[in-house]
Amino acid sequence: MQVAKLVVFGQDELKQYLRLFSEAIRLGLRFHLLIEGPPGTAKTLAVNRMIATLKQDVGNVPHVRVTGSQDALPSDLIGDLDIGKYRKGEMDILEGPLFRAHGENVPGIVYADELNRFSEYTLIIFTEIMAEWQVSFPKTPLTKPLRANVIATMNPSDIAGITEVPQHIMDRFNARIVVNYPDKATELRVVDQHVTCYYKEFAPRLKTFFSPLVNTTRAMRKLGISLGPRIYLSTMDLLALELSSNGSINRETVIQHYENAVRSRIGNLEEDKQSEFLSTASIALRGELGERKK
Ligand SMILES: Nc1ncnc2c1ncn2[C@@H]1O[C@H](COP(=O)(O)OP(=O)(O)OP(=O)(O)O)[C@@H](O)[C@H]1O
Ligand SMILES: [Mg+2]
Repeated sequence: MQVAKLVVFGQDELKQYLRLFSEAIRLGLRFHLLIEGPPGTAKTLAVNRMIATLKQDVGNVPHVRVTGSQDALPSDLIGDLDIGKYRKGEMDILEGPLFRAHGENVPGIVYADELNRFSEYTLIIFTEIMAEWQVSFPKTPLTKPLRANVIATMNPSDIAGITEVPQHIMDRFNARIVVNYPDKATELRVVDQHVTCYYKEFAPRLKTFFSPLVNTTRAMRKLGISLGPRIYLSTMDLLALELSSNGSINRETVIQHYENAVRSRIGNLEEDKQSEFLSTASIALRGELGERKK
């Protein structure tokens, strides 16, 4: 991802709290932030930009990104007893990836993406890091300092395959920011930025589809399916590739690519619900494209 080139439009509260988060790092204070919102609402982009800016200002800020998974064990994150040393009669830890975030000059950053995909068992380790900047190793008397602030993102709990984050972990965050889809004008800027950034030469020909695709996606959300900006951004990617390989696109191609972009997001619905949703989406888009021509 070309983070440096993409800026985040809107999401003012998110940006405000990320500024406070980076200020806490500069001042060496504990500050942990939880960001919740549906897929594709610029959570990761905003965090990556904050880290990039902080690095420019402060120099090296150690940080590590871990992504939530049901299968991750605490030892996958914090490490485990060093068996080689243990055999020689010493007790030490082979450090796991989280220790890459340990900061001496300023606290580092643990960026836990999709926090609510970690099991409750693994989530426990974040509690001690947030409260005490240290890690205790299970079944050993060992603890290690881990001076890092936690920034975690998660999708709302109504999306399939995720666990509820227990309250005692939620309590450790200084704030929980809830983001949502931006307004229509902002979504149009999002798609414009994407196309200008990645497919500048095709931008004039793709522009005409921005509004129909954004309008259709916004309308489909009202049916209760969480379709984020990635739907129209993926459609744009496909259309740009069509232009690059065939030199042209027509209305049917736009509908086909949009349908298939949507299809990749609704795989967890039952078969007949999927077909119903797809046909509603293509009728809506056809309407939008038709109207544009009048
Ligand atoms: N407000 C916005 N401003 C600029 N770009 C945006 C905005 N919202 C979405 N985007 C675009 O959508 C892409 C996806 O955003 P991002 O990966 O940050 O979403 P996310 O909230 O982390 O989603 P997920 O929950 O699936 O991880 C961005 O790279 C950007 O191109
Ligand atoms: Mg993300």
